[in-house]
Amino acid sequence: MSTPLPDPQVAGTRPSVLAPMQDVTTTGFMRVIGRREGPDWFVTEYFRVHESSTPEKHIVDSLLNHGTGRPVFAQLIGEDTPHMVRTIKLLQKYPIAGIDLNMGCPAPKVYRKNVGGGLLRDPAKIDELLGVMRAETPGRFTVKMRIGFEDQRHFDAILALVAKHQVDLLTVHGRTVKGLYWSEVDYAAITHAVKSVPCPVIANGDVTSSAKAQRLLAETGAWGMMMGRHAIRNPWVFQQWRAVQQGREPFAPTLGDVRQYIQEIAEECCDQAMAVDRQAGRLKKFLNFIGLSIDTEGRFLFEMRRTETMSDLLKCCDAHLLGARTTERYPEEPHRGLIARPTRETQQGCEL
Ligand SMILES: Cc1cc2nc3c(=O)[nH]c(=O)nc-3n(C[C@H](O)[C@H](O)[C@H](O)COP(=O)(O)O)c2cc1C
Repeated sequence: MSTPLPDPQVAGTRPSVLAPMQDVTTTGFMRVIGRREGPDWFVTEYFRVHESSTPEKHIVDSLLNHGTGRPVFAQLIGEDTPHMVRTIKLLQKYPIAGIDLNMGCPAPKVYRKNVGGGLLRDPAKIDELLGVMRAETPGRFTVKMRIGFEDQRHFDAILALVAKHQVDLLTVHGRTVKGLYWSEVDYAAITHAVKSVPCPVIANGDVTSSAKAQRLLAETGAWGMMMGRHAIRNPWVFQQWRAVQQGREPFAPTLGDVRQYIQEIAEECCDQAMAVDRQAGRLKKFLNFIGLSIDTEGRFLFEMRRTETMSDLLKCCDAHLLGARTTERYPEEPHRGLIARPTRETQQGCEL
């Protein structure tokens, strides 16, 4: 008998999940998000699986020390079945909510090895992998996938394999691998997945706010939502969506609350042992997203990108978020026309 899926924090609401994000979904970030009535559950950054791999220590740490009280699924990326089985067994000694398979990472260095998004070209390999992983996973076995590699030619075949191997939960990011992170999300394809598999589906891709989550739930029939980059921008989105579902007034953060959030990221996610310019570089990766809702002209983004040390960066945050603006409301949606300008995403796919 399969293990029931985790319960949402509030009975009767639809589940929200923080997207696994390499270098973002770390122990520190999970703690920061968890203090703001975060998602119903988490998925780790992926554990890389190959013949000489052992579970990465910093990801194991996120399983052990996130301190949120919420379940955490361990995500694996790989294709070598004996080593996937070995890793599933190794992970059983940690407090995991289940095992999740990554079938979406679009980084060329990843998909060229036929793992992550690369698997979507090979339904026969998926058949083998899902069969073995299902058989060897004692509890919940879940899959996170994109809708195809360059198009949807194998989508139906893969959805049939998800059904065949009794996957417990399917998350669909409604883009192809070639669509990276910016192509339009195909919500009709998510609706199609919902109708095609017997397990619940979590919809993912550009869920910007509680209002959009509500709309997409109605449109796609998905069971719940996974949010990534917009949860970096707005860590209150999970509690806001929960409140909206319950007919309560959602929490309305101020720019002062945002300044406090940034302080916690600086303390929890920017390793104090790093050189100050590298600490600042790390914080900027988060601020690239947060800055999308701070001012309409992108002045904050412009100025913060030009600072060099952590202390100048935090002063820049003070100048834009405190003083006369402290009580100003932080909008739920990003301002139109601003872009996060991720630095290495184009080449690396899964890095900020
Ligand atoms: C910086 C970054 C790192 C990511 N790392 C992973 C990962 O380790 N595993 C995974 O399945 N997806 C990863 N993703 C994809 C996200 O989980 C998510 O599917 C994608 O960002 C779309 O959701 P969003 O529009 O809410 O951000 C990553 C995305 C970003 C931006």
